[in-house]
Amino acid sequence: GLSSPKDLFQKAVEGGYAIPAYNFNNLEQMQAILQACVETKSPVILQVSAGARKYANATLLRNMAKGAVEYVKELGYEIPVVLHLDHGDTFEICKECIDNGFSSVMIDGSHHSFEENIELTKKVVEYAHAHGVTVEGELGVLAGVEDDVVAEESTYTKPEEVEEFVKKTGVDSLAISIGTSHGAHKFTPEQCTKNEDGVLVPPPLKFDILEEIEKRIPGFPIVLHGSSSVPQEHVATINQYGGALKAAIGIPEDQLRKAAKSAVCKINIDSDGRLAMTAAVRKVFSENPGEFDPRKYLGPARDTLKELYMHKNINVLGSADKA
Ligand code: G3H
Ligand code: 13P
Ligand code: NA
Ligand code: ZN
Repeated sequence: GLSSPKDLFQKAVEGGYAIPAYNFNNLEQMQAILQACVETKSPVILQVSAGARKYANATLLRNMAKGAVEYVKELGYEIPVVLHLDHGDTFEICKECIDNGFSSVMIDGSHHSFEENIELTKKVVEYAHAHGVTVEGELGVLAGVEDDVVAEESTYTKPEEVEEFVKKTGVDSLAISIGTSHGAHKFTPEQCTKNEDGVLVPPPLKFDILEEIEKRIPGFPIVLHGSSSVPQEHVATINQYGGALKAAIGIPEDQLRKAAKSAVCKINIDSDGRLAMTAAVRKVFSENPGEFDPRKYLGPARDTLKELYMHKNINVLGSADKA
């Protein structure tokens, strides 16, 4: 069956790596994630967002995830597969997922006051733990679009709040805000500096805050959202084949590698996969405008996606060979 992330987190914290949490909305994304994680022997967290539920139907998505467990066996190597609700914003949606077989949920109370966040998160934890389900909470607000709320600027996690939050809520992991944000446009060129190769380098993550958090809750599983790196090769391919993406800048991979060596044990990546798929589809359409079989463009998109995820597992998160 589906795995609980609890033991996976502990091993990841001790082993200095992070488990990939990849979002999926359709079959090809699911196949790419599972093929990549089986081939690299990495545990995996399959994430379903509210947007994914709206787009693809919750019943279909969770049955796909249950099918995933069988599918990885067919692929020849059994890896732990977690089914996780990404950015649950109410008790009701968390409960529905818990009742329907998810092994993990996030309750994102980060837009509420500290006290309300605690209250809501605690309520989800009580229900989830009674059903053997793991809970991720969040403290601090990420810049960019998070759910329907647009936070113009990051409110970094306050280290002095984490201990009380974790104690009072009983959460199993904590998402923090240290400079990552959702989407493909995390920084403007003006926020970046140019390195010797002319590459725009964004400001580094707030590792001082991360360290301070780790001091207060040693060994506690930390989660990073908004961790796409926005591969410039995919941005270039998209623009080469008719796209118009401007100044798409992500979190440099070396920053994530460094974070993965700490108590950060779950790293969320969605936008990079969107870019990889779009680049592949645009290329097919541009080179073969007569193509109309979805398999002929979704197939290459799937292959490009799989390559991206293998790269993440091996070179960024360090989760390869940990399953
Ligand atoms: O946190 C955001 C994830 O990238 C999911 O995005 O709500 O558009 O599916 P979505
Ligand atoms: P990205 O937009 O950086 O891929 O972040 C995804 C995420 O945090 C999903 O919860
Ligand atoms: Na880690
Ligand atoms: Zn997120």
